[in-house]
Amino acid sequence: MKKFILAVLLTAIFSSPACYAGTPAVEQGRKIFVKYCVKCHGEDGSGSEYGRYLKTNPVRDLRTNRLFLSDSELFIVINHGASWREMPNWEYVLSEEETEHVAWYLRTLKFTPDPKEGERIFKDKCALCHAPDGAAKKIWKAPDLDSSALGPFEMARLIRYGIHGTLMYPREVLHTNAEIANVVDYIQRIKK
Ligand code: HEC
Ligand code: HEC
Repeated sequence: MKKFILAVLLTAIFSSPACYAGTPAVEQGRKIFVKYCVKCHGEDGSGSEYGRYLKTNPVRDLRTNRLFLSDSELFIVINHGASWREMPNWEYVLSEEETEHVAWYLRTLKFTPDPKEGERIFKDKCALCHAPDGAAKKIWKAPDLDSSALGPFEMARLIRYGIHGTLMYPREVLHTNAEIANVVDYIQRIKK
């Protein structure tokens, strides 16, 4: 039963909601995306060659947006851009309705997690503190992640932004959205 609920949850997060896909608003959003966003974000949202080498910060993989951004945050970041980074603000280019359409379109993008990559990242970057036999687990009191109560959305955000003032520092710059999505997928799968 637990596996089934998890599968439904992960499917709901990573795949496109049937209610959006194919609607006129989403089709409108796709056109806006192609016109204004593809240059940096790439046709599939994973990031263009140009976007990946942007300084100071590269683009973020938009296929994972449902894991990191609530509806209102998605709207806000498109409207106002990301300060001090290359993500422009679109409030003077797009109407409110167009911003909503492109946001809905982003919600239909798909990301398929790679369980092997998730496991590799966990073992390389997290196991030291979190694995039951992790060398630093006792010293730093890192919790067992296989019994974490956090769902994918809370967990992904926590990993990206960290827990202030603890050894769980932010991974916002160290890991891409896709890497975080892969490790979250792995942890959700090993949950007891
Ligand atoms: C000039 C390049 C560029 C263009 C054009 C651009 N973006 Fe971005 N975008 C970025 C960068 C760089 C980031 C990452 C900012 C950061 O580090 O937080 C980003 C981040 C985002 C995010 C936040 C993703 C996350 O995980 O936090 C969203 C959503 C987004 N862009 C949507 C759009 C949409 C929609 C358009 C078109 C209307 C667009 N972008 C056009 C460069 C661009
Ligand atoms: C240097 C040790 C260290 C490393 C490395 C580390 N963490 Fe943590 N992590 C912690 C500590 C300590 C906490 C508990 C912080 C607190 O709330 O006091 C924590 C908390 C967490 C939580 C919250 C768990 C819950 O249920 O509350 C998650 C999720 C998490 N870490 C994921 C990761 C992932 C994924 C990685 C690898 C990318 C990672 N951590 C790497 C030390 C670490």
